[in-house]
Amino acid sequence: MKLPQLEDLPDPSGKRVLVRTDFNVPITDGHIDDDLRITASLPTIEWLQEKGATVVCATHLGRPKGKPDEKYTLDPVRERLQSLAPDVELLENLRFDEGEEANDPDFVERLIDGCDLYVNDAFGASHRAHASIVGPPARLPSAAGRLLAREVEVMSGLLESPTRPFVAILGGSKVSGKLGVIKSLLDKVDVMAIGGAMCFTFHLAQGKKVGDSLVEPDWVDACKELLDSGTKILIPDDIVAMGPDDEVQVFSGDLPDGWKGLDIGPESTLRFIEPLVNAGTVLWNGPMGMFEDRRFQEGTVDVAEAVAGSKGFTVVGGGDSAAAVAKFGFASKVDHVSTGGGAALELIEQGDLPGLEALRKSAEGGKDGGDRDG
Ligand code: 3PG
Ligand code: MG
Repeated sequence: MKLPQLEDLPDPSGKRVLVRTDFNVPITDGHIDDDLRITASLPTIEWLQEKGATVVCATHLGRPKGKPDEKYTLDPVRERLQSLAPDVELLENLRFDEGEEANDPDFVERLIDGCDLYVNDAFGASHRAHASIVGPPARLPSAAGRLLAREVEVMSGLLESPTRPFVAILGGSKVSGKLGVIKSLLDKVDVMAIGGAMCFTFHLAQGKKVGDSLVEPDWVDACKELLDSGTKILIPDDIVAMGPDDEVQVFSGDLPDGWKGLDIGPESTLRFIEPLVNAGTVLWNGPMGMFEDRRFQEGTVDVAEAVAGSKGFTVVGGGDSAAAVAKFGFASKVDHVSTGGGAALELIEQGDLPGLEALRKSAEGGKDGGDRDG
């Protein structure tokens, strides 16, 4: 996919450049738990500054519902950004204004006021057709930042020309949210392993008993269809479950009533990681269990370690699995840790994102003189 790059912008020297970043980082008690999304945008910011531009960053944080909310203050982000990249301005949390999510043209005007150029480096938010993502490219000369360009290059490469065998490991709690991704990946991968709580809906499709595990009964038929699709899908057999008195036990096959499955068991983990040894390409998205609890972290830790150890090209899709590789210390051993959760999944599923489309249109408009007046 061809996106306008930083080099395609008019000379940024002396210009004010609005950079849409995704600094929606996890924060606990005012402390940033993981600043990957900030550090990953530094190459774009530094490139622009070296060219003599004034950089103005804009981001959302959390879901404050269109009005200021202390809970979502950008203060911790602003402080971290200052320490990493001095002389960068940071606008107020975009979602403190209802114009952002509504893609209000007046809000777009206020946003770009005084700015000459626009850069989208917010891969993680580019699946949202919000004002700051789709508005400025229609008004200003625009480009993809380094982070965004790299994310799109990696994801497109995976889908268009993966080195084989291509192994996908998917996890997370709900199959409903990942059905589209599973379907589009099934045409492309050689093996798919499915863990996380969403495996229990597949267990229902296989006629197994799942005890008190999380399931989505409305999606059982869809899971049956996927299992019949012909691609090799691995579903866990053994499960680590918690019982009525909080006791923890591994079960093979059916789970008794009163027991809730919270991680994949050791035999399933071995089956999942076996194809990684000779994989040419690995995509991992979604944890295998409730890894925040040590008792249910083993499946996720072992998968993270195996992904890190694979000689193939390894990609970890953002969100919880990115948090897991960071938490367990494997992030530097993965070829690409995506900064986008939902965005990465939507790009895999749809092959495009509203933010990418806006940049391409902007480049086309610019070529024929465009209808830009900003
Ligand atoms: C994310 O963290 O997934 C992105 O920043 C987008 O946030 P959103 O899901 O609240 O739109
Ligand atoms: Mg999200």
